[in-house]
Amino acid sequence: MTDSVLDLAPVVPVVVVPDAADAVPLARALVAGGLPAIEVTLRTPAALDAIRAIRAAVPDAAVGAGTVITPGQVDDAVAAGARFLVSPGWTDVLLAAMRRSGVPYLPGVSTTSEVVALLERGVREMKFFPAAAAGGTAYLKSLAGPLPQARFCPTGGIGLLSAPEYLALPNVGCVGGSWMVPADAVAARDWGRIEGLAREAAALSAGARCR
Ligand code: 3PG
Repeated sequence: MTDSVLDLAPVVPVVVVPDAADAVPLARALVAGGLPAIEVTLRTPAALDAIRAIRAAVPDAAVGAGTVITPGQVDDAVAAGARFLVSPGWTDVLLAAMRRSGVPYLPGVSTTSEVVALLERGVREMKFFPAAAAGGTAYLKSLAGPLPQARFCPTGGIGLLSAPEYLALPNVGCVGGSWMVPADAVAARDWGRIEGLAREAAALSAGARCR
């Protein structure tokens, strides 16, 4: 397992799991579609059980935890089997917990000063969130000049059409998004539809990356 979240896969599905019983078929559909790195957001009471279930039953998935905002959640997610951690933002307290966790992590930024502050702390890989609302590809392009050592996983408001523009940037390692796991498809347990959307995302990102 890589120590970089950005190198796990070009597209990381950001998943909300309302019912832990759906976690394994959902993860299998994503892996079958070509998206092995799966971020399960800690936004539902089922999230930790979902991570546990995927870790146990879907060995080809690299399951991580998203929306991690407290040290307690860091500990819970790692205990449940999360192989990486993602946060929409960061504080020094959260960063210290992520560092101690022993798994790769991505703290979130949306401003230049936050990027500089993370670089100052030795962190070079970050989530750029909310990507579209915070300036999208134009913002990331602008950061590449003064801060080329920072690499990003933009997430938030990205879809099938815009993902390739992000993936073509030199300072983008992967993109995250929920477009391939629509809430209605999860509610309907339409794993075939999710596998199809995952396949489309995986193919598109593979084509877009010529680095
Ligand atoms: C999130 O944390 O919700 C992600 O950024 C997903 O954003 P999206 O639903 O706009 O893809």
